[in-house]
Amino acid sequence: MKKNILIIPGDGIGPEVTIWGKAALEHIAEAFDHQFTFDEALMGHAAIEKTGNPLPDDTLEKAKKTDAILFGAVGHAKYDNDPSLKVRPEQGLLKIRKELGLFANLRPILLFEELLHASSIKPAILKGTDILFFRELTGDVYFGEKKREDDGKTASDLMIYHRYEIERIAHKAFQAAQQRSKKLCSVDKANVLESSRLWRETVQEISTQYPEVATEHIFVDNMAMQLIKNPNRFDVVLTANLFGDILTDEASQIAGSMGMLASASVGESIGFFEPIHGSAHDIAGKDLANPLASILSAALMLEIGFGLKEEAQLLVDSINDVLKEGFRTNDIADQHTNRYKVLGTAEMGKTVLKFLSNRTTNTAT
Ligand code: IPM
Ligand code: MG
Repeated sequence: MKKNILIIPGDGIGPEVTIWGKAALEHIAEAFDHQFTFDEALMGHAAIEKTGNPLPDDTLEKAKKTDAILFGAVGHAKYDNDPSLKVRPEQGLLKIRKELGLFANLRPILLFEELLHASSIKPAILKGTDILFFRELTGDVYFGEKKREDDGKTASDLMIYHRYEIERIAHKAFQAAQQRSKKLCSVDKANVLESSRLWRETVQEISTQYPEVATEHIFVDNMAMQLIKNPNRFDVVLTANLFGDILTDEASQIAGSMGMLASASVGESIGFFEPIHGSAHDIAGKDLANPLASILSAALMLEIGFGLKEEAQLLVDSINDVLKEGFRTNDIADQHTNRYKVLGTAEMGKTVLKFLSNRTTNTAT
C-alpha cells in the first residue's frame, strides 16, 4: 500500500512523542512492504514563533493533499497565563479541524488489563470497560460567535448546533454501535439547553433507523458521575464538542492515564490522528512523557485511515507485551511499589519497537 503521511509534531511533548508514532509506522511499512512517505509541517506555538500564524498556509496545503496526519499537541504556558493574547496555538488545531471537515472525533477508551492498577478507580469497577466516544468536533461553543462587550466586562460564547451537524455524527456513532455491542448512550444537557434539546430530538429520530441499537439519553452531569461509578455499562457514547472534551479527559482515568489515549478525527476527507493529551509543557523536554498514545494514534491511522487491521493490532499487541514485561513510563507506574521498570520517553519508544520487531519477524509476510 502506498500512502503519504503528514507529521505535525506541534509543541511541548508533541515532538518527543510523535517521533515514536512515526517510528512505529516506519517499522510497519518495512515489515509489510508498504510505502509510507512522510512529510512534516508546523502548527501551534512552534508555527507562531516562525511565521506568526498558528496554522501557516503551507501546513494547510500539505494537510489537504496528504492521506493522513499524525499530530502531537499544541499549547504553551505563555498563553495559558495570559488570556489577553489574541494569536494562540490552539487556534491552529481548531482551524485545521474545521478546514478539513473533521466533524467526528473517535476516542476509544482502551483499557490494558496490565494497567488496571494504574487507575485511581478500583480495578473491580474498571474491569471489562470498553468505551468508544464519538465527540462532535466542528460545532458547539468552540465555533459559535465569541463576543467581548466594549466595556470589556461581559463576554459570551454562542453554543450553537445545526441539525445536519448532529445527524452526520449520530449516523457514524450508530453505525459503530451496530458493529459493537449495539448500545449507544447520547449525552446532553437537554433539561437546560436549547441546543441540547435539538441534539436529543435529532438523535431520537435517527435512532429509529437503527432499531437493533439500544439507545439511552443521559444528562452530562449525571454522565460525569456514572462514568466513574459504573464505566462498564457504556459502549458507544455520542456527545457534543465541549461535553466530549471534558468527559474524555475524565474517561482517560479509566485507561490509567491521559498518556494512554489516542484519537481519530474523521469526516469529509482524510483522517487526523492524535493523542488526547495536550502539550504538557511542565514535563516537555525532560524525557518523561508517555509515547504510547502517539503509537496508539499510529495504530488508529493504520486501522481507521488505511483499513490495515492486522498491522494496527500488532502495535496494540506490542504495547501489551511491553506492559506485561513490567515496563512503564512515570505516569502509569504505581508509585507505591517498585515492581515496575520505569522508562523515559525514548527508552519506552525503543522498547515498543523491540517487541514489535519480535512480532513482525514472526507474522509479516
Ligand atoms: C483536545 C484538546 C483541544 C480541544 C484543545 C487543545 C483546543 O483539549 O483535543 O481535547 O479542546 O479540543
Ligand atoms: Mg481536551
